[in-house]
Amino acid sequence: MHGKAALTSKIAVVGAGEVGSAIAYSLILNPIAGDILLIDPKTEVRDAQAQDLSDATYHGNTSTRVRAAEHKEAGQCDIIVMTAGAAQKKGESRTDLIGRNLKILSKAIEDAKPIHEDAILLLVANPVDVLTYFAQKFSGLPKAQVFGSGTFLDSARLRGILAQRSGVAASSIDAYVLGEHGDSQLVAWSHASIGGVPLDQVFTEKEIDKKAIADETKQKAAAISESKGATSYGIGGVAASICKSILFDQRNIRPVSHWQEDLGLCLSMPAVIGREGIVRSIPVNLNDEERKNLEGSANNLKEVIQEAEK
Ligand code: 2OP
Repeated sequence: MHGKAALTSKIAVVGAGEVGSAIAYSLILNPIAGDILLIDPKTEVRDAQAQDLSDATYHGNTSTRVRAAEHKEAGQCDIIVMTAGAAQKKGESRTDLIGRNLKILSKAIEDAKPIHEDAILLLVANPVDVLTYFAQKFSGLPKAQVFGSGTFLDSARLRGILAQRSGVAASSIDAYVLGEHGDSQLVAWSHASIGGVPLDQVFTEKEIDKKAIADETKQKAAAISESKGATSYGIGGVAASICKSILFDQRNIRPVSHWQEDLGLCLSMPAVIGREGIVRSIPVNLNDEERKNLEGSANNLKEVIQEAEK
């Protein structure tokens, strides 16, 4: 494969709001797929977004086509990106959205059926970990084919902040945020490295204030949303990058929300991503404190799932 196959591929983006359109825009610019199908029950907004995005394809540097489509067509696409759902209001956490967004997810998946047996369902709407768990149930697809963007975005934010503090390019920094894409997330500091050398061997505690950096990473979405109402471009880039890993079978390792057999739910751990979805989950040997935090994150998510199942 895979470049040629990828450019004849179809990606459905369900939800034509800020996030859905930013993902579509990023998919066009790369370009990653042949066709982007934009789907939203609000047909007026959907059609306008599809036309505006199409305008961004006519200047000659992309062969991607964008069009408005119905939910039913999503089921026959190579990737279905689920962004549909309410955004956080001021002061709300991502898990506060579960009631509203679970109903939207359930309907969107039902309307997309029958879903092609090779399709990948990529969850982006929040609370992403909980919605990924339910999407695995609702869709009937193998668990490896249903996963969420998770803490890939938080990890990118972390690398960005570390790059600013250290004066080293983000691409030379390996550092992961794991667990919930939300308030109980944790940084796996014990595995952070710079140019392959453990971070602690290169920088002092004074140079890299871990607590302050972890807090800034966690708060970044809220800080952005406070002023512009929502985040969109960050998640747009991250989701498009995951689509590329899938369609080009790139086998990149990314922290994404996927099924954890030992915990019985979905949260972010590093995983190898390819055309089959989660090709392999990478276990991380966390230190005691990080392990405790990961268990705390799992317990929080379990409570939200149990409440939603009532
Ligand atoms: C983000 O982290 C809000 O989950 C969204 O940008």
